[in-house]
Amino acid sequence: MEWTSLNDLREKYLSFFESKGHLRLPSFSLVPNNDKSLLLINSGMAPMKKYFTGEITPPSKRVTTCQKCIRTPDLERVGHTARHGTYFEMLGNFSFGDYFKNEAIPWAWEFLTEVLEIPKDLLWPSVYEDDDEAYALWRDVIGVPEEHIVRLGKEDNFWEHGTGPCGPCSEIYFDRGEKYGCGSPDCKPGCDCDRYMEIWNNVFSQFNNMGDGTYTELEHKNIDTGMGLERLACVMQGVDNMFEVDTVRNILNQVCAISGKTYGADKETDISIRAITDHARAATFMISDGIIPSNEGRGYVLRRIIRRAVRHGKLIGINRAFMTEMCDVVIRENGPGYPELIEKQDMIKKVIANEEANFSKTIDQGLAILNDLTKNGGTLSGDDAFRLYDTYGFPFDLTRDILAEKGMTVDEETFQKRMQEQRELARSSRKASDGESWKSDGISFDGIEKTVFAGYTENTCEAKILDIVCEGEHVASISAGQNAVLVLDKTPFYAESGGQVGDTGTICKAGTTFAVKDTQKTAAGIFTHSGTADGTLSVGDVVTAEINVARREAIRRNHTAAHLLQAGLRKVLGTHVEQAGQLVNEKTVRFDFTHFSALSADELQAVETFVNEAVLSACNVHSKEMAIEEAKKLGAMALFGEKYGKVVRVVTAGDYSVEFCGGTHVSNAGKIGLFRIISENGVAAGVRRIEAVTGFNTLALLDHYKTVMTDTAAALKAGNIEDIATKAAQVSTQLKENARLVECDIGRRQNR
Ligand code: ALA
Repeated sequence: MEWTSLNDLREKYLSFFESKGHLRLPSFSLVPNNDKSLLLINSGMAPMKKYFTGEITPPSKRVTTCQKCIRTPDLERVGHTARHGTYFEMLGNFSFGDYFKNEAIPWAWEFLTEVLEIPKDLLWPSVYEDDDEAYALWRDVIGVPEEHIVRLGKEDNFWEHGTGPCGPCSEIYFDRGEKYGCGSPDCKPGCDCDRYMEIWNNVFSQFNNMGDGTYTELEHKNIDTGMGLERLACVMQGVDNMFEVDTVRNILNQVCAISGKTYGADKETDISIRAITDHARAATFMISDGIIPSNEGRGYVLRRIIRRAVRHGKLIGINRAFMTEMCDVVIRENGPGYPELIEKQDMIKKVIANEEANFSKTIDQGLAILNDLTKNGGTLSGDDAFRLYDTYGFPFDLTRDILAEKGMTVDEETFQKRMQEQRELARSSRKASDGESWKSDGISFDGIEKTVFAGYTENTCEAKILDIVCEGEHVASISAGQNAVLVLDKTPFYAESGGQVGDTGTICKAGTTFAVKDTQKTAAGIFTHSGTADGTLSVGDVVTAEINVARREAIRRNHTAAHLLQAGLRKVLGTHVEQAGQLVNEKTVRFDFTHFSALSADELQAVETFVNEAVLSACNVHSKEMAIEEAKKLGAMALFGEKYGKVVRVVTAGDYSVEFCGGTHVSNAGKIGLFRIISENGVAAGVRRIEAVTGFNTLALLDHYKTVMTDTAAALKAGNIEDIATKAAQVSTQLKENARLVECDIGRRQNR
């Protein structure tokens, strides 16, 4: 076997599985999409749970990925050993109801022994204790001698991580040699010593852990495999631990260069060097996936990671901001596999620099409070230490170190008690949200095909009623006054998605009108029109469906304006701006985006002008379906963490904006009329919100301003609205003068 770089190993793995008919997908975001049971993606299969359960059809039955993962249960241990880390990459090949054990096991063996040429006698498979089938495959098909196959129990060989797909597994261990062993004659995989290192886990994913202690059988049998890329690199590079792997070592070397320390010279220093190395990798990838430091959820995990890194920097004598230099190296080392890091380099560095600077301030503030609390010596109470930690973010180990320098102690027992209470609180709030992602949408429409959407080009169409749901039951007909949900074969009604609200309108049959109040769609693409009937309607009726055109026109204007607004924000503020949410309805466009500070009046003006220039250029707005690769070449903006199919719809507004979008738009930007920003404010850490209006709503706003000014002019008796400012200033001066005169008068009377 030959020394192979980490980046080459990733490529070898993915192309090997492509040669076995797998579709290579890029890593999913570290931020779980629609899965409240997880804070961060922690394995290759986690973002694909719904492919395993069959809730979503995968783009191919065979998929291979190299997934970015974060695991933080041992965060406090990172650095203290060479084994612990938070960020890692997981290679995986997946079968969704396609191949099973007969293929997965031989392919794993072929990759390790033929592609990577790892000597066969250094590999040891393990199987779940009752899995005779896997055992026989290893022994009879692969030819592994019986004494090299171990059977292990549920603890080792049944894979599950929280809720979702799980099953028995077969692992492959690498024998690192006697020098790592415990010397016991029984030493083999499963032993507690360091000799046998697990490198690949093949899970025969057959069950769904429902999160309430029960397991259901999955519709079909799947394969979920996971191999830690850094671990495999340790084997292929003949090194001891991940900090010695080429790309990681280069990051570690940067810590040494900045601090002037040598790795391996001092135990305590090594702890800090490793912690900074791991944390710089984790933080860089987390920020590139849109996570911003905050006080809760994954933002808090990121904050702790950055703070730990900065704190360890101080411990080894780095007395200046250094984290952006760490990002540069992480990006350089990982750019080949993750081009988005290069694209987002500026944004990543801004976020990390900001957090580092704030934390330095926190440390200064904490030191001041601590100095105050320790004026009289003695023991610092556990409650005070906890308050310093919890409220001011001042690290406990720093508190302890400083106290030790002063010959003082801290009531650690109470501090740990408070910490435990906080952990329990966090755990119970996590539990409360567990499992939600597995709930179905409620009503199911078995046997009904996806609704044909005619609304990109038509406002009205003929359609047939395929189903009616009234009070949660499927019914054959409804009569006057009943609220119901109608499903049609074809519809011009846009169903709420991508932040654009659903259409309203009417569904009519001779003499009967069903007033549609909202339109939604199911995961399977069936549109549901909810509203009230004023007569009888039955399944099978042929009807005319017609949207409220004026309302839709207003929505179109706002949606196209949202695209132009995003383009304007990126132009004025920088390409770190990403959409973080939006609401487009007939009244306004509300657009949330990533940015760290409030916009200045000049910036707001520049963004508004950008949009109005596009509007007044009257450029055409086109939409087109195309292959995703083609769309990317056009530079179309996609949403963070969103997965798109092979064919995407791309909306282009002149030279101003190109975006992936399924929404409805004006055909020409001129139809927006005029665009006006009405507010800008912060909604969460690092997320800003702009509200704006277009078209008739801009006119309504101008009318409103005019009324306010006319009323003010009348109240001031200004006669002409042009004069109200002068008049208001005069009145104000006069009032002040009057007040002064009154005071003088009172003073004179009192002195009399
Ligand atoms: N999902 C399995 C793991 O993470 C392959 O180990």
